[in-house]
Amino acid sequence: MNSKRPKAAWALGAVIVVGLVAAAGYAWQPAIAPLARAPIPEANLTLVMHGAQVAELGDCMQCHTARNGKPYAGGLPLATPFGTIYSTNITPDVKTGIGGWSREAFARAMRKGVSRDGHLLYPAFPYPHFTRMSDEDIDALYAYLMARTPVDAPARVNELSFPLNFRPLVAGWNLLFLDQGPLPQPAQPQSDAWLRGRYLVEGAGHCAACHTPMNALGAEKSSQPYAGGLVDGWDVPPLDALTSARKPWTEEQLVSYLRTGIASEHSASAGPMLPVTHHLSRVPESDIRAIASYLMSLQPPVAARPAAQAERAPAPPDAQVLAAGAAIFNASCAGCHGAAAPMRTLGQRPALEWGSTLNSDRSRNAIQMVLRGNPWNGSSAAHYMPPFADVLTDRQIADVLSYVRFTYAQRPAWSDLPASVAAIRKENSQ
Ligand code: HEC
Ligand code: HEC
Ligand code: HEC
Repeated sequence: MNSKRPKAAWALGAVIVVGLVAAAGYAWQPAIAPLARAPIPEANLTLVMHGAQVAELGDCMQCHTARNGKPYAGGLPLATPFGTIYSTNITPDVKTGIGGWSREAFARAMRKGVSRDGHLLYPAFPYPHFTRMSDEDIDALYAYLMARTPVDAPARVNELSFPLNFRPLVAGWNLLFLDQGPLPQPAQPQSDAWLRGRYLVEGAGHCAACHTPMNALGAEKSSQPYAGGLVDGWDVPPLDALTSARKPWTEEQLVSYLRTGIASEHSASAGPMLPVTHHLSRVPESDIRAIASYLMSLQPPVAARPAAQAERAPAPPDAQVLAAGAAIFNASCAGCHGAAAPMRTLGQRPALEWGSTLNSDRSRNAIQMVLRGNPWNGSSAAHYMPPFADVLTDRQIADVLSYVRFTYAQRPAWSDLPASVAAIRKENSQ
């Protein structure tokens, strides 16, 4: 979705797509006549409240609100491999938002990625998942959005290069990658919780948009569902290896993580996952349980799981690095992460040793954690970690991470840490 990938592959892909579009010749979609003002849902509070929950699951506000902007008024820049796309205004303003959209036009956008006037939308908008939504959920979402405060906010112009600024190309993409409509029946009979969980994860929740790797055309690799990805500079852990973690995840721990952002024997949500867990905290618990039950079914059968890594002591880092790292840890980190720190137990905050961040084969998320921290959201002090980008040098960050990787995760050292810190710091500043 928002990760950066080589432009060359895109250009090549684009050429192929142009050919496909020419062959398919179906890039044109009719406009749906605007209404003077979509009917304001008559105090149907139940429907509007149901819509609010679908919107939480779909993270609609997250993408459709600019930094310090009005809710749902759009304008958030999304960095894609082919340039910057801005989200649009989905408040019920008639001129600049979707106030003039009929329910039919709204459903077509959600299911087919076509705007009211007929132009094709880019798949940075996760319609390949939203297409799974039921009529009831789309009706509720429509009622909810139409009941928001209208905001006058014209769409910003995207910064895309030719040929990808040519929207009809998306028709070729849709032809290749959009599997429209509801999910197929499962191959085997499944419980109601599983069916509900699959519907939420694959549909409104669009978990795969981040948790599945992308191909060169920015579509999810259908051969590697939930094998992990990269978004906004963060590694996205796989969701099909949860039972192979140093401490295997249980369904109960998943429920806790998704509802509160914290699983005491794993980690706390950070980076792009933090807002997801904020939104999920407002979804009914039964739905979160359904999601967790579906996620557990994605795990390989017990016999096929890799044997737990034997706990062996890796070679310690260079003594000078270790001593420097320990000193930085004691000065800057131990107040929150030290075994004796009272902050450590705040909100059942997990200990450093269990999380995927320090146990990962890649250092990316540990580096991002120290550079960017976890923003203060005004509600949960248990999540707050200050950013150290302006406080520590690349070398100091490398030293402290070598120290915590060795001391807490007891995994083999990450190679080339100082260079990785410098590279990720540079990426963040772009
Ligand atoms: C990952 C970010 C993201 C999420 C999550 C997201 N959107 Fe969007 N949405 C976009 C972007 C970007 C566009 C503009 C695409 C374009 O211009 O081609 C868009 C466009 C739209 C449009 C078309 C508006 C128009 O003027 O054509 C509608 C309707 C819409 N989104 C509704 C929703 C709803 C409802 C949800 C939640 C269920 C949602 N979006 C979640 C990124 C997102
Ligand atoms: C915007 C991108 C994005 C979306 C959407 C998203 N995730 Fe995540 N997820 C991440 C990132 C990034 C991490 C790593 C966070 C961290 O290191 O704290 C993560 C971590 C997780 C973890 C912890 C895994 C581990 O091994 O530590 C679980 C479980 C998870 N996500 C489940 C989900 C589910 C279920 C959904 C859909 C409802 C979802 N995610 C949607 C980006 C996303
Ligand atoms: C004000 C308290 C605070 C300070 C100071 C702090 N952290 Fe954190 N840190 C947190 C919180 C809160 C989290 C997220 C919850 C968690 O995973 O414990 C976190 C998470 C992390 C993680 C990810 C753990 C995981 O598994 O997801 C790493 C790595 C980390 N911190 C390293 C450091 C380092 C290194 C320092 C010092 C340079 C530091 N922290 C300083 C509060 C703090």
